[in-house]
Amino acid sequence: MPNNQATACAYSNIAFIKYWGNRDHALRLPANPSLSMNLGGLFTRTTVRFSADLTADRALVDDQAMQGNSLARISAHLDYARRLAGSALSAEVISHNNFPAGAGIASSASAFAALSLAAAAALDLKLTEAELSAYARRGSGSAARSVPNGFVVWHMGTDHASSYAESIAPAEHWQLTDLVAIISTEHKATGSTEGHQLADSSPLQAARVATAPARFEDCVQAVLARDFERLARVVEHDSDMMHAVMQTSTPPLLYWLPPTVAIMRRVRQLRAEGVGVCYTIDAGANVHCICLPNALERVRAELHAISGVLEVRAAQVGGAAWLEG
Ligand code: PMV
Repeated sequence: MPNNQATACAYSNIAFIKYWGNRDHALRLPANPSLSMNLGGLFTRTTVRFSADLTADRALVDDQAMQGNSLARISAHLDYARRLAGSALSAEVISHNNFPAGAGIASSASAFAALSLAAAAALDLKLTEAELSAYARRGSGSAARSVPNGFVVWHMGTDHASSYAESIAPAEHWQLTDLVAIISTEHKATGSTEGHQLADSSPLQAARVATAPARFEDCVQAVLARDFERLARVVEHDSDMMHAVMQTSTPPLLYWLPPTVAIMRRVRQLRAEGVGVCYTIDAGANVHCICLPNALERVRAELHAISGVLEVRAAQVGGAAWLEG
């Protein structure tokens, strides 16, 4: 008999080829395939307990009781596992991020990956990794990529079952480090769920989506061959493409601040001097600087020297989501 309780952990991830825009908003079927690396050391730990003693779902995230839309999103996510298990039990969710909220590190990816694994285990569902990844995707698209190990591709798919992520190389494959330059800890005005819905209002989105499969293939080959120059070119170009779409949406989304641009310029100069670093930026102002091992200390020092950089956090490539206990 399952004991109706489980604890799971999952790392956050940073996309090298970005997911922006959906073909199906309800199912979060993406407009293009994406590729990411897990962020080792930066994770969410979540315990889910289903019990007949509870009259409604409740959730504590970093010691804060979730309410309204936040709680409804978690409940809707649990409903999928309940449906598969034929269960009507309410659940208590207790979740902690080991990185501060607003530190420029996506928490929805690690949060929904950990929630999915814990909920499935608590209800004794025997899901494959692909099924678990597809389940996580329903909560937050990028969460699909926080389920498998290391370097991960998310196949866009055509329906729920075919839209899942899988590993193309384990964490040990390539010793890259993401140095996250934190320049703002403010809560972003437009979150990604809303942002994905604006993508098609940009005339550039069709061009971005049409050319994304070629960038995706290029990036897969760069990762498999550990070809940093090739990786750097495609990662920066793909990030710039996504931000071009964001900036030309209606209403426009401009996430960058002056230090964001200063870092982009400095990273490009450094690479021209032979330093192994490239940038990528999500739906926020902070800059993720992907570094080769021998570039790490130089890039860290350079980032600290840029006015407006509050903090620099390092993450190596992380493994798959895991169950505890
Ligand atoms: O999973 P979401 O809905 O938070 O979307 C993630 C969007 C980006 O972080 C901007 C890009 C990505 O692929 O992670």
